[in-house]
Amino acid sequence: MSTPHDESARTYPDGRPLAEQPQWRQDFPTDVPEDQGLARREFTKFLVLTSGAFVAGQCWIAAMSTLPESDDYPELRIADDDAVPPGGVVEFRYPNDHEPCVLVRLPDHRLVAYFQKCTHLACAVVPQPEHGQLKCPCHNGYFELAEGRPIAGPPRRPLPRVKLVVRDGGIFAQGVEYRTV
Ligand code: FES
Repeated sequence: MSTPHDESARTYPDGRPLAEQPQWRQDFPTDVPEDQGLARREFTKFLVLTSGAFVAGQCWIAAMSTLPESDDYPELRIADDDAVPPGGVVEFRYPNDHEPCVLVRLPDHRLVAYFQKCTHLACAVVPQPEHGQLKCPCHNGYFELAEGRPIAGPPRRPLPRVKLVVRDGGIFAQGVEYRTV
């Protein structure tokens, strides 16, 4: 059985031994079948690792979706309750300065708030209370306003919903609900 450094056992394209090969090949001998076998092994290893990473990612997503949501969200006063009439819109950031959100009062006086990043490719959605929807102008995606669920265009997942509470004359954000359907 040959070892990686057993020069006499190497195979060359023309079948002649190493001593009869051109000088450049003697200087840098390469066993073509062994080299191809190595490439196949490397490719197989790559496929196994990539598949493993994909399966691990899916398991992580499944595990995360079964966990209870964190209660570690800050409380943020968004606006005075009487400052948002039906059809009124207030933009704010929550739970940190990097997350733009939008608050809307529906015609029936209910309040809803969502992350403003479209669940397709993260463009900012625009509330259209008069049509009962939020529109993403990038690829004409639409979400219905009362629940934030996708109704047209490329988005497939609902907008994350900001949990609200009205207290002491103010509208407060108190958490985020991530939804997959
Ligand atoms: S980014 Fe919103 S539809 Fe594409």
